[in-house]
Amino acid sequence: DATRYEAEGSGATCTGTIDSNHSGYSGTGFCNGDNTDSAYAEFTVQASAAGTATLDLRFANGSSAGRPADLIVNGTRVETASFASTGSWTGWSTQTVTVQLVAGANTIRLDPTTANGLPNIDYLDVAQASG
Ligand code: GCU
Ligand code: CA
Repeated sequence: DATRYEAEGSGATCTGTIDSNHSGYSGTGFCNGDNTDSAYAEFTVQASAAGTATLDLRFANGSSAGRPADLIVNGTRVETASFASTGSWTGWSTQTVTVQLVAGANTIRLDPTTANGLPNIDYLDVAQASG
């Protein structure tokens, strides 16, 4: 089972605004990061045990270019997620990344690699391998 962490939730940070003007999001809104490479979205997630987890990041990118971002877990970059165009700001899609978590609190940060900043970020679903 996955645990959902909303970008507008209390365990998340959004360097920008929590908006609700593009329909289709989960919860009460989404993170609209400022359009700069220094704006980020960060989630604090709890893991019951150390091990592999599957992250599903829901996003919308209504611009024509990708909005790549480094996925950083507990301070270490795991990969650069592409966050390709979804065609419109109401076109939501999911990007999946497999990571290793430690037991307890983990910090998962999306750090854009271009001056366009992040796509709009809806939520992070975390599913730990059973065990
Ligand atoms: C538009 C859109 C925002 C989005 C922004 C962007 O302003 O309404 O939701 O965040 O573009 O380019 O990042
Ligand atoms: Ca934005």
